[in-house]
Amino acid sequence: MNVEEVFSNNATWVNAQLGRDPEYFNSLSKGQAPDFLYIGCSDSRVPAETIMGAVPGEVFVHRNVANMVNNLDLSAMSVVNYAVVHLKVKHAVVCGHYYCGGVQAAMGSSDLGIINPYLKSIRDVMRIHKDELDAIADDDARYRRLIELNVQEQCINLTKNPEVQQALKAGSLQIHGWVFDIGTGKLIDLGVDVSALQSGYSDTFRID
Ligand code: CO
Repeated sequence: MNVEEVFSNNATWVNAQLGRDPEYFNSLSKGQAPDFLYIGCSDSRVPAETIMGAVPGEVFVHRNVANMVNNLDLSAMSVVNYAVVHLKVKHAVVCGHYYCGGVQAAMGSSDLGIINPYLKSIRDVMRIHKDELDAIADDDARYRRLIELNVQEQCINLTKNPEVQQALKAGSLQIHGWVFDIGTGKLIDLGVDVSALQSGYSDTFRID
């Protein structure tokens, strides 16, 4: 794909949308009211709206390497805050994916420069779940399980955000942990139950 193709594709898309609804962009420009906040990986093979069958206006998206929810990440926390407080999304999703290069890098020991401290958060997940991961003999199975556990831990990190805690307490927000399987195209609900994993969110400023 080259740049000319991008603009040609855009023109085709605009015409198709207007063909279906002459007011489409006029309506879209009036505002957004998405039900979903989606936090996923930057991987080009995991496009949020495509795998969810969503259209513009339906999903508020934040993507970074390995779908991390770092509570010191001003960008991620701003997205979460805006989604929960102002857009009042009903669902907050952390979506990982099998074959995630970020998680794979965390399992290795290469010097990747600025990515090293970033990967530390994924290595913390490995340390927290060391016993379970060490018991998995098959490398691919261990890799897949770490991807799932990372999603679970990032869901827990989400509950450490004070606005998320208030929304959970009010019953207006649900947190979901999903994995996208690039090998099959299927979206898998991991059934992450944050209230069972930790009890902190009933106390707004609890930090455990
Ligand atoms: Co990834």
